[in-house]
Amino acid sequence: MQKQVEYSDAVRTKYPEQVVIAIAKDKDGRANPVTLGWTMIASGKPLMMAIAVASKHYSVECINHSRCFTVAFPSSGMADAALFFGSRSGRDVDKFAEFDCKTEPAKEIDSVLLTDAVANFECTLEAQLPAGDHIIFVGRIVCSHVNTAGAKRLYTVGSGHKLGACS
Ligand SMILES: Cc1cc2nc3c(=O)[nH]c(=O)nc-3n(C[C@H](O)[C@H](O)[C@H](O)COP(=O)(O)O)c2cc1C
Repeated sequence: MQKQVEYSDAVRTKYPEQVVIAIAKDKDGRANPVTLGWTMIASGKPLMMAIAVASKHYSVECINHSRCFTVAFPSSGMADAALFFGSRSGRDVDKFAEFDCKTEPAKEIDSVLLTDAVANFECTLEAQLPAGDHIIFVGRIVCSHVNTAGAKRLYTVGSGHKLGACS
């Protein structure tokens, strides 16, 4: 049986929600990481992923400038990085300079990978769709990487950006 409630009451049942960190370079060549929960695998052939980024975020400028982005699946030990990258704007701070997070160059695009992430996907910008206050960027996956140490993935496990691993 279903009971009609407010959207805010129904949507708080969504956890755990996956977390990704998307990275795109700005016009000065500075890589800007942003934490995102609204993301999905969007196509199997060709391989594509989609991310929803608020129109006001600096990342929108970065993705539109570089026309490519990395999608990293952070590991459970990366909660502090995800919170930092998800609470500061690249307009005000160089996030990788301010927060110590290991990176390495991407292979096929002009971006970076997160060394300690569970996996990294290099994407070229395929399409973008305005969706209310967000823009959905669709990226074509051109190269994929996995962490050989077998780390666990980070999720949002509760409201208020409560981050942790899932069993
Ligand atoms: C766990 C978590 C999930 C988030 N999910 C999203 C999201 O899906 N879309 C979005 O636009 N912002 C999301 N944010 C907020 C952005 O990461 C945050 O506003 C960031 O500072 C924007 O950075 P930028 O201005 O450098 O692009 C999330 C933040 C956190 C901590």
